Amino acid sequence: MSAPNNSYDPVEVTPLHPDEVARMREEALSAIEAAGDLDELKEVRLAHASDRSPLALANREIGALPPTAKADAGKRVGGARRDVGQALKARQAVLEAERDERVLVEERVDVTLPWDRELRGARHPLTTVAERMTDVFVGMGFEVAEGPEVEAEWFNFDALNFEPDHPARTMQDTFFVESEDSGDSGMVLRTHTSPVQVRALLGRELPVYVVAPGKTFRTDELDATHTPVFHQLEGLVVDRGITLAHLRGAIDSFVGAVFGEGLRTRFRASYFPFTEPSAEVDMECFVCRGDSVGDPDASCRTCSSEGWIEIGGCGVVNPRVLTAAGVDPEVYSGWAFGLGIERTLMFAHGVRDMRDMVEGDIRFSSAFGSEI
Ligand code: DAH
Repeated sequence: MSAPNNSYDPVEVTPLHPDEVARMREEALSAIEAAGDLDELKEVRLAHASDRSPLALANREIGALPPTAKADAGKRVGGARRDVGQALKARQAVLEAERDERVLVEERVDVTLPWDRELRGARHPLTTVAERMTDVFVGMGFEVAEGPEVEAEWFNFDALNFEPDHPARTMQDTFFVESEDSGDSGMVLRTHTSPVQVRALLGRELPVYVVAPGKTFRTDELDATHTPVFHQLEGLVVDRGITLAHLRGAIDSFVGAVFGEGLRTRFRASYFPFTEPSAEVDMECFVCRGDSVGDPDASCRTCSSEGWIEIGGCGVVNPRVLTAAGVDPEVYSGWAFGLGIERTLMFAHGVRDMRDMVEGDIRFSSAFGSEI
């Protein structure tokens, strides 16, 4: 800044000369007009309206003028700066409006467009329930065993001590696989997961602690309570000194983990060719806990007011099965169980109709979440 000088003529201080001020003003205004977007305008603002702009520098010169000249120069420079400020403001508004307009067009989303996105697949609830059931036993140290869905009759029936004329072998229950020539292939679609017991014993070192989840087939019509393709979880323990007490403990742990702690279980005497003795396994109804039994005002849909829910079959492995699988029944003993996976899903999640599980309607499966 120049020192005060009374004989100072503002017209002779170049930056304050009217032509020069007008030029700076014009230059600023045309730069503002030329700014094509907000970034450019920011540059223009720095160049023409900041503290280091020519007009701001000219403004500083005013202080050094004699008082008589100050007002005139101040008016000139102040007017120019005001014009520049207003022009900046106006251009800013225009450019902001343009930007908003552009963003609205560029980022436009037509929410009425048809949906062309593929739904992300998710595992079927039967799969997740089967895994949860399996995990309970894996947590107790069991291994997972597998067998084929198209199975030899020998594994599905003979080795499991089904007599040749056992009714379950007839066409009523079993899908037989025809061979091209004789018609009798000796193969069936396995009617239960129990043949995996024999495969596990033949293929593993003793002791054996396995569970086998899998698909099973019977010639049932599809309705609310039957399906020709269903799933079971087989369990087998063969070791020295194995008793039914271990079986009850394992079943209780399963029921506690899947349906809730503290539910009682019971065994009802039954018959299976491959176990002796055999039992049906029931668990206490986890909804009414038996309170609905005999109370006409309290009907329970889950257990039909019976207080108990059947979840599968079990028993002590028949020595004939051990023998068929090459295990000495004098040394080893064991137990087995078969649990229905559909039944578990139905009870654990209140599914009322088996058809919902097989129809593949996404509205059914998605209610169980989209676990991959
Ligand atoms: N396989 C039998 C069924 O499908 C269920 C079963 C019962 C399995 C007793 C077992 C068992 O392992 O010990 O009806």
